[in-house]
Amino acid sequence: MPCTDGAKQASRDFSSVRADKAKMQQRLLIHHVAVSSLANRKRLFNSKTTEFRGEIIMEWGMKNRLSRLIQKDGKALFLPVDHGYFQGPTHGLEKPEETIKPIYQYADAIMLTRGVLRNCIDPAIEKPIILRVSGAVSMVGEDLSNESIVTSIQEILRLNAMAVSMSVFVGTKNENKSLSNLAKLVDECEDYGVPVMAVTSVGRELEKREPRYLALVARISAEIGARVVKTYYCENFRKVVDGCPVPVVIAGGPKTETQKEVFDFVYDGMQAGAIGVNLGRNIWQTENPVASIRAIRGIIHENYTAQEALDLYNQVIAGKA
Ligand code: 5RP
Repeated sequence: MPCTDGAKQASRDFSSVRADKAKMQQRLLIHHVAVSSLANRKRLFNSKTTEFRGEIIMEWGMKNRLSRLIQKDGKALFLPVDHGYFQGPTHGLEKPEETIKPIYQYADAIMLTRGVLRNCIDPAIEKPIILRVSGAVSMVGEDLSNESIVTSIQEILRLNAMAVSMSVFVGTKNENKSLSNLAKLVDECEDYGVPVMAVTSVGRELEKREPRYLALVARISAEIGARVVKTYYCENFRKVVDGCPVPVVIAGGPKTETQKEVFDFVYDGMQAGAIGVNLGRNIWQTENPVASIRAIRGIIHENYTAQEALDLYNQVIAGKA
């Protein structure tokens, strides 16, 4: 059989692919042996002082980031202004920098996308940033659950994010894609000590605020590796919190008719074991965002009842607090 130049080249290419593969396998083997011997060492001595130094450093980064988000009292008030990623310049967020300016001092962290961060936020800001990294859908498109991860791990680190967030849609046709995206993001972020917050939702066909479905998606997200889970408040909220082994924060959803409704569900959610909120529209779409966020902060960090929060809200509006 004639041996053409093309065939020779193909054979050379094939050999070099094989050589690369062998090198890669060798590297993986070395890595595996190193990791197992460290694991064995840990198992043998079972003492903090014998832990792999790199492991301590990595754990420190994760703990440090989480402790900047979740305050010393174990509670947290996250302020999301990421809604434009699928809603465009939605009411109240037309100019995110103006929305944030009077209220961010009362939040423990701000959640947004890289585009708003880069263009609207002073890099000298001291508030920790939770970077929304899923998207590539819009409210006029076919399916909101068909999200992709839109920000690389390099960008997450470059922007000094304290955590990242992504949406998880259970009970939709994109359930597997969304949960697989979560798994990949967790793998990448854990390597660098960056916590992942799962922003959980259930499909439209499921009753959105039913505890069994919210508990299902919260638990699945935690099982896949989310360090924090955001969910909606519902009746019997304790079922959601009790079934979720990581901290749970409550979202607000669309603006309610009265402020008291928000204070009621935030208070009830906290009593049921939530560590705080990730609450946007019911702060920055209200008539007085400063009064709203201060009252919610009262419930989260000062143990205010819903009525005490309402009193503070009215006092702030009256210029008495
Ligand atoms: C928007 C989000 C929000 O961050 C989350 O839903 C909380 O905001 P809100 O309190 O306005 O519901 O993921 O896409």
